[in-house]
This record gives sequence, structure tokens and C-alpha cells, in this order.
Amino acid sequence: NSLNALAKSKGKLYFGSATDNPEFSNTAYTKILFSDMFGQITPGNSMKWGPTEPSRDTYTYAQGDVVLNDAKNASQIVRAHNLAWYEQLPNWLSSGNFDNATLQTILTDHVTSAATHYKGQVYAWDVVNEPVDDSGNMRSWLYQDKVGTSYIDLAFRAAHAADPNAKLYLNDYNLEYSGAKFNTTLNLVKQLVAQGTPIHGVGFEGHMIVGSVPSAANIASQMNQFTALGLEVAITELDIRQTMPETAAQRMQQKTDYQNMVGACMLVTKCVGVTVWDYTDLYSWVPSTFSGQGAACPWDNNFARKPAYDGIVLGLGGT
Ligand code: G3I
Repeated sequence: NSLNALAKSKGKLYFGSATDNPEFSNTAYTKILFSDMFGQITPGNSMKWGPTEPSRDTYTYAQGDVVLNDAKNASQIVRAHNLAWYEQLPNWLSSGNFDNATLQTILTDHVTSAATHYKGQVYAWDVVNEPVDDSGNMRSWLYQDKVGTSYIDLAFRAAHAADPNAKLYLNDYNLEYSGAKFNTTLNLVKQLVAQGTPIHGVGFEGHMIVGSVPSAANIASQMNQFTALGLEVAITELDIRQTMPETAAQRMQQKTDYQNMVGACMLVTKCVGVTVWDYTDLYSWVPSTFSGQGAACPWDNNFARKPAYDGIVLGLGGT
């Protein structure tokens, strides 16, 4: 009765969940989170740039350390998240007016500090998060605009120098679909591999919509285009949102959708594992971001398993 045990029995490294520190006061929640149900934890916020470097060269890892230590105590591995992203930047950085050279120093210092702090203790780092926009252009943000695409290589190199054993990922959403965004990302990753950037994996976030999830085979063929480059892949932030209120029919569609997402990872040997972006609707990011949508997770607000849970079991090859 453990998704992690089932995933491992089928050759995967883990089945995991994201979490966040404020949720730790809920013991009904932590009882499941830190049980053998999950083999891997991702801190949803507390290792990000804004929370960890509130002023330049002043670092605070206390919150991330709490997540790491609780996971360790439960024999769970950690995917650390994330180092270079356009959101949740510290104010001093986003409102500052730094030149190109200084921005490179700032990025190197931040990445080096965080990856050194967690050296040898995390399975992976999402080094670069969501670098391509929905139209398939390099996303316009501070680093892309002022440093250029070379910020990506810089971040990976600094992370690798600080923690040579961590798997270093580029992580993004909508890679489950073919199109401009996928093509730009694939070309970017090909370029990184060709130039010797220390990238080891590509994260398929998996923020999906009920009824719009491709077949497992189609998603697997998206993944295979990265594994063909010698990289591993993972589903890093899985949730499948729906229009509220939920109906019985939607719940059943969501079950099928979860089965296809997880099934895709099972079809790809080098897909190492699946992480849900929190396991319960109670702590989902969806309702506060997409008005009128929710119920995206496999457990409901009251910690009861939904049909989506059974879809995951089926996707993992269980019964
Ligand atoms: O910590 C502050 C708190 O001090 C303040 O009082 C409160 C008031 O709004 O905000 C708190 O920060 C919030 C933070 O979560 C921690 O709870 C931010 O407002 C809120 O925007 C932030 O949302 C997070 C979001 O990333 C940021 O864009 C979500 O929890 C988190 O689930 C979400 O995760 C992202 C991944 O990192 C990348 N992929 C997409 C995914 C979903 O957006």
C-alpha cells in the first residue's frame, strides 16, 4: 500500500511529493507525508532564491534544512528546488540595477552557496527552472535579458563545482506537448549537452488539466527525445486540475489522466521517478492561481484517497 514501494518494485528510484514548511503543523498531513508512502520530498518554496538570500550575500537555509532533515529522518531523498528562476527572486535583486558582470557574480555566488550548503545531501537540483516561455522564446527575465542565454551554462557549472554528485536538472512545464516550447527546449538542451554543460536531467513538471492529458505513449515519446541525449528525466510537479465543483465523471477522467502521466514515466527506462506537487488538495497551489479550478491532487482536502490515487497505482503497473 505504498506508491513508493510500488514504484521501486518496478525499477523507479522513488515516488515523491512536494511540501512546504507551513504545512508541517498539521499532523494529519505530516503523518502521510513522512510515511513510507513517499520516498522523495521536494521543498515547494523554502530553497528558492528569494527565501534563501533575503539580502545580498546573506543566506538563510533554516527552512530548507527543516524539510531536508525531516525527509532524512523518514529515509526519503530530496529534490532541491530551484536555483535560477524568474519568479520568487529576492527584492534586492529584482529591483536592483546591476550590470552584466555583477549579475554573473551574483548568480555564481548564490548557486555556489546553496549547492555547497546542501552538498552530498540532495539527490538532484532543479538548476534552471522554466527558461522558455509559452511561445517558444527564451523567457524574458532579468538574467535572460541582461546576461543572455549563457546564464544557464553559468548556473549549471557553478552547481556542479559545488556538488559534483547532485543530478542537475533543467525543469519546465508543458514539455508533455509537442510544439514551439518543446522544440526550443530540446534545441537548448542539445546545445548545452554539445558544449559540455554539466546537465544530467530534464524535469517534466506535469501541471496538467483534466481531460487534456496526452496518452502515456505520446508523453513517453516527448521524454525519449531527451533521454536520447544521454539524460535522465523525471516528472517533477505532477498535478491535474479541474473546473470546480468536481463531478464524478471528472474524477474518473482524472484517474485516467494520472494513469497516463505516471504510465509515461514507466515506459521510459531513464525516467527515474514521479513527484506530485503536494499530495493533498488542502495544500495545492492551484485554487489561488487559477480561479474556479482545483481538486488537482490524488488525496482530497480531508486526506481521503481519490480515484486519481488508483490511477497512479495502475500507471505504476499495480492493481
Ligand atoms: O512566504 C510568504 C509569506 O510571508 C506571505 O505572508 C504570503 C502572502 O502572500 O506569501 C508567502 O509567499 C508565498 C509562497 O508561495 C509561500 O507560501 C507566495 O505569495 C506565493 O506566490 C508562493 O507560491 C508558490 C509559487 O510557486 C510561486 O510562484 C507556490 O507555493 C509553489 O507551489 C509554486 O511552485 C511552482 C514551482 O516552484 C515551479 N513550477 C510551477 C509551480 C507552481 O506555480
